[in-house]
Amino acid sequence: MNTCVVGLQWGDEGKGKIVDLLSENAELVVRYSGGANAGHSVVRSKEEKQFALHLLPSGILRPEVTCVITNGVVLDPEILLKEIDGLAERGIKIANNLKISGRAHLVMPYHKKQDQLSENALGKDKIGTTIRGIGPCYADKVTRSTAIRAADLLNLDNLQERLIKITGLKNKIFAAVYGDKEPLDVDILMDLCRQWAKRLTPHLTDTTALLHKAWHEGRSILFEGAQGSLLDLDHGTFPFVTSSNCSAVGLSAACGLPAKAIDTFMGVVKAYTSRVGAGPFPTEQDNETGRYIRDKGHEYGTTTGRPRRCGWFDTVSVGYTIQLGGIDKIAMLHLDTLSGLKELNICTGYRYQGKSLDFFPAEADVLDKVECVYETLPGFTEDISGITSYAALPNAARRYVERVEALLQTPIAIVGVGPSREETLFRN
Ligand code: GDP
Ligand code: IMO
Ligand code: MG
Repeated sequence: MNTCVVGLQWGDEGKGKIVDLLSENAELVVRYSGGANAGHSVVRSKEEKQFALHLLPSGILRPEVTCVITNGVVLDPEILLKEIDGLAERGIKIANNLKISGRAHLVMPYHKKQDQLSENALGKDKIGTTIRGIGPCYADKVTRSTAIRAADLLNLDNLQERLIKITGLKNKIFAAVYGDKEPLDVDILMDLCRQWAKRLTPHLTDTTALLHKAWHEGRSILFEGAQGSLLDLDHGTFPFVTSSNCSAVGLSAACGLPAKAIDTFMGVVKAYTSRVGAGPFPTEQDNETGRYIRDKGHEYGTTTGRPRRCGWFDTVSVGYTIQLGGIDKIAMLHLDTLSGLKELNICTGYRYQGKSLDFFPAEADVLDKVECVYETLPGFTEDISGITSYAALPNAARRYVERVEALLQTPIAIVGVGPSREETLFRN
């Protein structure tokens, strides 16, 4: 039974929590796209400090699970190794249980520099990226001649020759376009590459072959999406998106398995909506309600610490991402965060220039101007974080979940009432 977990909003839906839970029954957990722009939190129990994972699959906390990073990921060795060391300090050893594709592209220090320079130059028009070098690294992948893949660490002499050419070109571009005065130093980069080669080589493998073998042997594979479908490069709110196909449509290209290898697509949503970075957000509540949700839900970025923008649940955008991903089931997290709001609004439609829209608009400036049509439900005031069964939820909380489910026409199978494993309600 192979499952793909994918975010249906603008990221941070709680994918880390769901992957951690489902990985109890998985033999392999696979990160297939994005990079260290992702921040996936896992809270094993209320007593324990949370784990924040950026590149390692969230199955890494279970030693019996094989964790795989495939070709679609842009891998920052600096961050990955720091993450591995951080886990080792907490008693989690990583050895043979981590497999990395030699085809994964490497995020180099100059990609992060380029991300920062580009965002600074854009000024008020910036995308609000995570400055993790994601866009520049994927751009080099597409350019090809300036790209470096993990397998290039296996031939350091060749890599040095290529880095001399690449940095020569980047230095010219950074100086001419951004007025940068600190040229890149190949010796410093090569020192890093030597360290990375030593530590990463044992993990490098052909993950496409590994996944095909696992699939044919009937092993259970869990795919961990990063970002959210509305940040998808082709299908999201362009240009305020990330640089990969992070919705479910990107899965096959990013791991080399055909779509038919997946039995279930599980979409993850929050009981409301959040977004970090710039871009349209029709149901945003830039007011007391938005601040209430942000404070109660601790809505600050796992990767950058930035405050997240918050607003009501939007069945138009999530209906669209359900279609896009062929979503079979939904996990709705953070229901507890809505407690204390007198009324709960659900966006059921968009109006643009006086007319109802029957589709999710492709243009960011249209989406920026749509008016939301809301349905209002009564709120609930009880603290629901200690509740252990769906039936024990207050009536108003169940009514909210079931109304969203009816509007989305997709079963909500899991409901989150807190960050930890035990704060999860399963529905039949
Ligand atoms: P991801 O990027 O999709 O993995 O999500 P993040 O980890 O970036 O953000 C989700 C945040 O919500 C994390 O701090 C989680 O610990 C927390 N969280 C997950 N599920 C719930 C829930 O049901 N209730 C509450 N209050 N917090 C949750
Ligand atoms: P997880 O996996 C939320 C957003 C950034 C920015 C845009 C482009 O934790 O859900 P990038 O650095 O990718 O070039 O930034 O995408 N973004 C995310 N927002 N969660 C994420 O990942 C994100 N990854 C990227 O904030 O708006
Ligand atoms: Mg996150």
